[in-house]
Amino acid sequence: MNGHHGAVAMFAAALSFFPPCAAPAAEEVPQRAQACTVCHGPGGNSTDPAVPSLAGQPAQFISMQLFLFRQGDRKDPQMSPIAANLSNADMNELAAYFTRQRPASPSHQSARENAAAGRRLAEQYHCVQCHGPALLGLQHIPRLAGQQFAYLRTQLRGFKAKIRADFDGNMTSVAELLSERDIEILADYLSGLTPARD
Ligand code: HEC
Ligand code: HEC
Repeated sequence: MNGHHGAVAMFAAALSFFPPCAAPAAEEVPQRAQACTVCHGPGGNSTDPAVPSLAGQPAQFISMQLFLFRQGDRKDPQMSPIAANLSNADMNELAAYFTRQRPASPSHQSARENAAAGRRLAEQYHCVQCHGPALLGLQHIPRLAGQQFAYLRTQLRGFKAKIRADFDGNMTSVAELLSERDIEILADYLSGLTPARD
């Protein structure tokens, strides 16, 4: 985790140095965000199983992930080159746009037995303590409710295998305890949850 302290401190400094831009009108899609929606879907609601939705994600989570991609801590052949070209101000503007977008209802339907088993696992492993009781995320912690099933499963496997960047080490510690079967159940449960705040 060593090098990450420096990265986090720099990130915090970068954020305070570049306050979020004034929010544009909700209907207006900032020029820079249009390039993102090609992969992340209209309004950041992804229809691609391998690509995460960004709609309604906490702004701090979005900008932090972009920062980690730019920094090279988190790596992805598609995202890394995109983040490399973003300034801190761009990241804040993009985060402000996507956090305001309403998450779509999930297209995924959880298996009936996994809905109950998934909730039990989410409580047993304290997912709900960090990601929130309705798994909607907050601050630097992502929304999981209604996220793409395949994407969730890949990320959980990635944390367990220590190949997904994890800036404070919390997810790697949790994922270590999960069996492949637990991951399957959790991804199925989380992906089917309605991500609305009301
Ligand atoms: C060519 C397709 C593509 C484009 C264009 C793209 N992304 Fe991504 N993005 C991805 C993929 C694929 C991932 C998942 C990477 C992984 O599996 O770790 C991702 C992940 C992310 C994440 C992490 C989300 C999470 O839940 O962990 C953020 C934030 C993000 N992208 C923001 C953006 C923004 C902002 C833009 C526009 C500037 C953008 N992306 C453009 C493909 C794309
Ligand atoms: C101690 C707090 C904590 C606990 C407990 C926790 N998480 Fe996380 N989780 C986080 C943080 C922080 C991140 C962002 C990590 C990063 O990208 O550096 C995260 C990220 C994730 C991601 C990646 C999502 C994305 O969009 O990229 C998934 C999936 C996830 N958690 C699932 C779970 C599940 C399932 C559990 C319970 C088994 C759980 N988490 C328990 C804090 C926690």
